[in-house]
Amino acid sequence: MEKKAHFVKRDFPPREAPSLLLLLLVVAVLLLNALLYLYLGNLHGSSGRADAEPSLCPYGSFKLGPVKNCSPWLSCEAINREVRKLKCVGEGAVKKVFLSEWKENKVVISQLTKPELKEDFLHGLKMLKALQSKHVVRLLGYCEKQFTILTEYHPLGSLRGLNETLHIPKYKSMNTWHRRLMLAIDYVSIIHYLHSSPLGTLVMCDSNDLDKALSQYLLTSDFHILVNDLDALPLVNRSAGRLVKCGHRELWGEFVAPEQRWPYGEDVPFDDELMPPYDEKTDIWKIPDVSNFFLGHVEGSDIVRLHLFDIHAACKKKDPAERPSAQEVLDTYKKVLTLLIREAAMPSTREML
Ligand SMILES: Nc1ncnc2c1ncn2[C@@H]1O[C@H](COP(=O)(O)OP(=O)(O)OP(=O)(O)O)[C@@H](O)[C@H]1O
Ligand SMILES: *[C@@H]1O[C@H](CO)[C@@H](O)[C@H](O)[C@H]1NC(C)=O
Ligand SMILES: *[C@@H]1O[C@H](CO)[C@@H](O)[C@H](O)[C@H]1NC(C)=O
Ligand SMILES: [Mg+2]
Repeated sequence: MEKKAHFVKRDFPPREAPSLLLLLLVVAVLLLNALLYLYLGNLHGSSGRADAEPSLCPYGSFKLGPVKNCSPWLSCEAINREVRKLKCVGEGAVKKVFLSEWKENKVVISQLTKPELKEDFLHGLKMLKALQSKHVVRLLGYCEKQFTILTEYHPLGSLRGLNETLHIPKYKSMNTWHRRLMLAIDYVSIIHYLHSSPLGTLVMCDSNDLDKALSQYLLTSDFHILVNDLDALPLVNRSAGRLVKCGHRELWGEFVAPEQRWPYGEDVPFDDELMPPYDEKTDIWKIPDVSNFFLGHVEGSDIVRLHLFDIHAACKKKDPAERPSAQEVLDTYKKVLTLLIREAAMPSTREML
């Protein structure tokens, strides 16, 4: 009996089986694609609403953790009364950064390091207020007269520590080309946001080498990127012919864009007055280097690099006007991610489509 049943099953319409299988396969591919688009749409959708509010609180207020209500930004009084400094977790040129505690939440207090940098500090605060969005670290309060800013704490710290973080057992599962490409997409999304911000086209100037650039961004616990340091964000106004300079000193090295370097040769001493200004395309020049850092050397990262080769070559055009916009780079990155996920999930789809 058993044998017979076995035979019957095996002999079952020999020609329909493959076509049924093929149909199932096609349905599976279609479903997978649909899911993929939904997933990517959710992750990287840049439609206005999602861009606007980090926690869906009105301007001037915030929400932390599981709390339901929005609280207004903390004032000088509230900060002095309710926030307790715990330890220093970072220091840059402008700010000293302390892990602190507010109502059982971990928060960060940033304080001015030296009075000469007041202007930068206040510019950073102004930008932090104006640019609150899903791309920017959440502001919880500030006290201008004490040069203090209160923000959300991100235990993974700045992007400088990405290598180390990816080697912690807890985060090993994030050490894939897929996650790494998603970080690059996050980064380019932020550059795009700054270049088309509510205030106009802003240039991320605090980025004269890779380490410096990375230190201006934070890695969140769910592996996304936020921009944190907005102290040096000059405005380009093309219609008014207004360009920018990143500081008043001579810049060197391959990381900065060619137009940021002294153009008159070694025989002419550097003079800030003679140094020509430039625009936001300096940020585009830097994208390939930052992305290469993100991609690292894991299985698959070289395939990603191959797919990004053309767009990265365009970012490195000597003439800034020939470089793509952040939007174009972002679109290309997203296309590559979609393509590679699809290929990884269904190696044969390349031939089928
Ligand atoms: N909210 C935060 N959570 C965790 N770490 C933080 C946070 N804010 C700042 N840090 C750490 O402190 C460092 C310095 O912060 P920040 O870049 O704001 O200082 P800065 O003085 O303005 O820097 P710069 O020298 O670039 O002007 C960051 O690179 C990061 O490591
Ligand atoms: C750019 O300059 C023009 C002309 O001066 C001005 O009307 C416009 O508001 C400026 N735009 C921004 C974003 O500052
Ligand atoms: C990070 O790791 C990559 C290799 O995976 C290496 O090339 C790079 O130098 C490292 N960077 C830092 C800052 O440690
Ligand atoms: Mg910084």
